[in-house]
Amino acid sequence: LQDDIEQELKYRAARFDDYLEELMAQWEMHARLKESISHTLLAGGKRIRPILTMLICDMLEGNLGAARTYGAALEFIHTYSLIHDDLPAMDDDEMRRGKKCNHLIFGEGMAVLAGDALQSMAFEMIGEIDLPAETRMELVDLLAGAAGPGGMVGGQVMDLEAEDRKVDLEELKRIHAAKTGQLFRAAILGGVLCSEHSREEWKILDDFSRNLGLTFQIVDDILDVVGDEEKLGKEVGQDEAREKSTYPSLLGLEESRRRAEEAASRAREALGHFGDRARTLIELVDFIERRQH
Ligand code: IPE
Ligand code: IPE
Ligand code: MG
Ligand code: MG
Ligand code: MG
Repeated sequence: LQDDIEQELKYRAARFDDYLEELMAQWEMHARLKESISHTLLAGGKRIRPILTMLICDMLEGNLGAARTYGAALEFIHTYSLIHDDLPAMDDDEMRRGKKCNHLIFGEGMAVLAGDALQSMAFEMIGEIDLPAETRMELVDLLAGAAGPGGMVGGQVMDLEAEDRKVDLEELKRIHAAKTGQLFRAAILGGVLCSEHSREEWKILDDFSRNLGLTFQIVDDILDVVGDEEKLGKEVGQDEAREKSTYPSLLGLEESRRRAEEAASRAREALGHFGDRARTLIELVDFIERRQH
């Protein structure tokens, strides 16, 4: 079964890659900037966030074209966050998505600008979504909130500030919820906004997103300790080298795995509301819990 979902995700990611390639081919910009953006954007990430948006939208029988466009916006923001996260001033990494980091090929200035450009491009995409203006405004609100000081950027700030001291579990949870959880929330609730939905469904899926985002980042922390560089496409052991506060550093590997399982179970429980319609989403939770990459 795990194989099936891996195949399904690969297939969906490949189709989404084609779409991103088309978008980049048409986007007019300085040639070197395009090269820099493409280097990281088109390097084949898992595309988990846009796939989530589309699976949620599919489950709610919403507008899949809109979900795909919004998914591109989300992947732009996510990719910008990765390019900046790897900079020497931040995590100072060398590998990303199986390639040398952006700044090592294009220089730090261009890497900063590639991230900046991706962020603007994200909001330009939302403007083009085929939905009423009011819904597009709600999507802007959702994504800006998730990306900005109250979301991913805020989490990255807390992560940076926590580097040379020990944080407790409560603080670590807040960091993870912001730096990673918020973009998962924007992925899931973005799919909801592209669909007709009830207040109850919104609440349930908001709760689902909290637990899925937490599962994802605990597993990311675990893989930095026990993962395979080849499969991950990024160096391992970097968190320990930088004395980052992570789940394994705070709780040890075994307890971290237990916490990931617990969060994944909560995510699956939330989906219970949707019965058989949530089948693929439940498999996606399993994948995120057990992934090796
Ligand atoms: C990595 O995200 C950054 C985190 C939030 C942990 P992914 O593991 O989704 O990276 P890609 O998109 O597949 O490269
Ligand atoms: C990154 O967390 C979260 C972002 C917002 C990019 P990490 O720093 O753990 O991500 P990786 O391990 O470098 O992908
Ligand atoms: Mg980081
Ligand atoms: Mg990092
Ligand atoms: Mg990490």
